[in-house]
Amino acid sequence: MNKMTVRDIEVAGKRVLVRVDFNVPVDVKTGAITDDSRIRASLPTIKYLLERKASVILMSHFGRPKGKVVDDMRLAPVAKRLSQILERPVKTTDECIGPEVEKSAKALKPGDVLLLENLRFHAEEEAGDADFAKALASLGDIYVNDAFGTSHRAHASISGIAKYLPAVAGFLLEKEINTLGGLIEKPAHPFTSLFGGAKVSDKVAILKNIMPRVNCLLIGGGMAATFLKAQSREVGTSLVENESIETAAGLLKEAEKSGVRLLLPVDAVVADELNGESKSAVVAIDAIPRTKKIADIGPKTVEIFSRELKRSKTVFWNGPMGVHEIPQFAGGTQALAKLIAGLNATTVMGGGSTAEVIDALGLADKVTFVSTGGGASLEFLGGDELPGVAALRDKK
Ligand code: 3PG
Ligand code: MG
Repeated sequence: MNKMTVRDIEVAGKRVLVRVDFNVPVDVKTGAITDDSRIRASLPTIKYLLERKASVILMSHFGRPKGKVVDDMRLAPVAKRLSQILERPVKTTDECIGPEVEKSAKALKPGDVLLLENLRFHAEEEAGDADFAKALASLGDIYVNDAFGTSHRAHASISGIAKYLPAVAGFLLEKEINTLGGLIEKPAHPFTSLFGGAKVSDKVAILKNIMPRVNCLLIGGGMAATFLKAQSREVGTSLVENESIETAAGLLKEAEKSGVRLLLPVDAVVADELNGESKSAVVAIDAIPRTKKIADIGPKTVEIFSRELKRSKTVFWNGPMGVHEIPQFAGGTQALAKLIAGLNATTVMGGGSTAEVIDALGLADKVTFVSTGGGASLEFLGGDELPGVAALRDKK
């Protein structure tokens, strides 16, 4: 990465504003944090700053409150969890800008940590409003972006604020950019990329950008139906993105032209409905009944995909193979997750639901890297420069 990091700037005695992505998943009923990986991932930067006698002001969004105060989206539970992990107090405020916050920020001593209230309680955050960015900037001396997961958003706290303070990257941002960038720049071959999830349209940019770099593309999940349709196959009542059929056909052609093995499922678990009660069956891909939906890849597909993955030196995975939230349709996703975790290869997981699957199976420390960014990792690997990275100071 050609951007300055916290290593390149004097932080002792400074108030350092750190944008983190503490948008952690929570239990819809109880509000309890179900996965604190994003909080843990920010620890190296926070600890580094505290050890060097800076005071740390953390800023994050949480959920999508759309410019209003939503009590269920306050950051207090996150502050509590961070405090437990850090083993030191984390102060909070019930605002993120304004006189009270300024007072709290000024009162900080070296080694203190303050977490501001949810930035998205102000519509100005997502609008990238300059005055809002300035108000945030006035709280500190240095700006650090460690929120990789939000760096695809040109929001006030992500790119706007960098105009008003010396702006550098945190360790998580650096690691994400270097690891994901390594897939694009210098992957060890054979390089296999496994894609799933619902929509082709979300993945077009990344598929196009990764195609010249991979030896093999494996496609499962909901998006496989659109590719199968592009081959004029019967997919029953599976959701097909009609507007992406042509794109899928183009990608199939492109793969053939460039000698990339693009493999689609050869069998599938099908059901009348995608719920836990529906009876399911395994069928060959050219025998999908007109009345049924694809819910998961089948066992033969798992076998073929596994064979490709086993001989790979680099693997990138984004998106589940089926409706993995429902146990009877989770088989394909879980089998491949376990297989990838056992590989002697560089294995990188895209964020979002892929990260959740890996965490739920307790495999996070068995793979090379799990990205904390869902949309951000897709956009970055799609070849876009992320606004949150572009805004930082270049290395001298
Ligand atoms: C995420 O979880 O995708 C990031 O925190 C960004 O959130 P957003 O998609 O609501 O902008
Ligand atoms: Mg998102």
